[in-house]
Amino acid sequence: MDRLWYGGDYNPEQWPREVWDDDVRLMRRAGVTVATVAVFSWAKLEPADGEFDFEWLDDVIDRLHAGGIRVDLATATASPPPWLALAHPEMLPVTEDGVRLSVGSRQHYSPSSAVYRRYADRLVRNLAERYRDHPALEAWHVNNELACHVQRDFSDESAAAFREWLRARYGTVEALNEAWGTQFWSQQYGSFDEVMPPRAAPTFRNPGQLLDFDRFSSDAWLQVYRAEKAILNEVSPGVPVTTNFMGFFKGLDYWRHATEVDFVTDDHYPDPADPAAPMIAAATRDLMRSLGDGPWLLMEQAPSAVNWRARNAAKPAGMHRLLSLQAVARGADGIMQFQWRQSKAGAEKFHSAMVPHGGEDTRVYRETVALGEELAGLADLVGARQDARVGIVFDWDSWWALEQEATPSSLSYPQVVLRWYAELWRRGVLVDFVRAEGDLSRYAVVIAPATQVLSEAAQQNLAGVASSGRRLVVGYQSAVLDERLHVLLGGYLGALRQVLGVRVEEFAPPAEPSVSGGPVPGLEIAGLATGGAAEWGEVVRVDDAEVLSTFVGGMLDGLPAVTRRGTAWYVATAPDDLASVVDAVLEGTGVEPAVADLPEGVEAVRRGDRLFLLNWSPAEVRVAGESIAPLGAAILRD
Ligand code: GLA
Repeated sequence: MDRLWYGGDYNPEQWPREVWDDDVRLMRRAGVTVATVAVFSWAKLEPADGEFDFEWLDDVIDRLHAGGIRVDLATATASPPPWLALAHPEMLPVTEDGVRLSVGSRQHYSPSSAVYRRYADRLVRNLAERYRDHPALEAWHVNNELACHVQRDFSDESAAAFREWLRARYGTVEALNEAWGTQFWSQQYGSFDEVMPPRAAPTFRNPGQLLDFDRFSSDAWLQVYRAEKAILNEVSPGVPVTTNFMGFFKGLDYWRHATEVDFVTDDHYPDPADPAAPMIAAATRDLMRSLGDGPWLLMEQAPSAVNWRARNAAKPAGMHRLLSLQAVARGADGIMQFQWRQSKAGAEKFHSAMVPHGGEDTRVYRETVALGEELAGLADLVGARQDARVGIVFDWDSWWALEQEATPSSLSYPQVVLRWYAELWRRGVLVDFVRAEGDLSRYAVVIAPATQVLSEAAQQNLAGVASSGRRLVVGYQSAVLDERLHVLLGGYLGALRQVLGVRVEEFAPPAEPSVSGGPVPGLEIAGLATGGAAEWGEVVRVDDAEVLSTFVGGMLDGLPAVTRRGTAWYVATAPDDLASVVDAVLEGTGVEPAVADLPEGVEAVRRGDRLFLLNWSPAEVRVAGESIAPLGAAILRD
């Protein structure tokens, strides 16, 4: 499309036909270019087994087309009708405690269910055959937020699929035993048939089994996508196919999923009350751009409040616009919302929408119209790419492993990663997220925070950044385990040990702040970075590196906290003063912020010939010669 996508999920099945005409009128007034239709329409499209009713959807799509609105047509497979699940209860997902989930909400199916697959395939084929030539069809939207509610299914059918997955991965049960270290606690398997999903158990489950089940589950959901995509490609060739991601979502390894979508799309619902929301949203947008290596689409966001937090803050005036501009600035070729018209019944009736309960004479609808107008003026950015010079490693294996049971300390992987990201965001430095085993040659700086799981090849790849004279920053809890979760013996860090010139002898995380008066005190550091050292400490032994900061007090007193060997840095804690470390790492790299000396709370991003300046702070600011109101933006052209 030569315009930005602008619109949202459109659920006309919730309304009588008279409302549909009004919808098209209001969409046109708001400059809507695309509507996502039929996401939850399965029960209406197939009210009984094999009885299809497309007449109403024909009408909806024709009306949209007559109004000049393109259609992102969903495959409607996200919520099977009750008749299907009741006839085949074996398709319902099962929790790790053995509870079989029921009908009455949505996503009540196992990704491994053969029955679900058969019925979903039939529906998708019917839809594709009916609408493949419709002139309004812009894209196919597979299912919806795969794994959103059911990340892992522990049913017998998933157990069988898991065994097949393991057979393909390991070949022999001996290889599986070796990988999982089953000599520990007498867990040795005699055949694949004995292997179970990691269901609820008396205590810690096998780490290899847990990690492989995470990998398998991500792949099982990918299979759901693939099955639909294959049908769509066969019946409706040439029409792009996607599905909507959910930002930093633990359940799915989006690096794997992203290679199979024709364009990456994301649903993002920052909490308007969270001061960190702009930074987290920026990181999420950068993740999406990185996953697809280029422009992507914001597929859902709330025009104002959601209805699923304990307190659902409304977005104050300006915030929705700012979040939308931020997405465009960070590579989005479209801004879509959930949903078009606010429901009057059902579980999401209190979730905001582009047309609120109050109708068109409302703040939110006025903002809907204004945003449509503004986005129309940014159409020339469609397709514009951006080149970041800093890469931060993001790795789902490490996320899953780091947050398992029985680890050195409970850490939140995204939190550790975002601490680094925040420092760059503050400076107006664009960041890509990268894979440790990916092509890192375009980055002047690569940061690997808590990348706990690294294969030999990934260790070598990261080490290569430093040996080629570019900057490599390795954070604590990196390269501790290989891809089977076997410890990298002899001081951890594997192949990174040499470029970093350090070894780690012992982990020694500080006490929680609440108990830090005890014999294990909180930590501080001195030197390049000074002050509090949150969350982590360890005994680092230097073989060949400069010590830039040391721990102060307690058992780590005087030991290295930040080291550097040439262009390779090791950071053994989370300094409150991470800014000093980042300043030193960036120095002399030629990595430039979008605008020098950004005031606090202002975000700056370049895309194409535009400089986006977003003021998240509660005060008016002056930057790049512009005065920007609180929650205001300036978009300057070169
Ligand atoms: C998700 C879903 C939507 C809706 C919104 C509400 O993103 O995809 O169907 O439930 O959440 O926030």
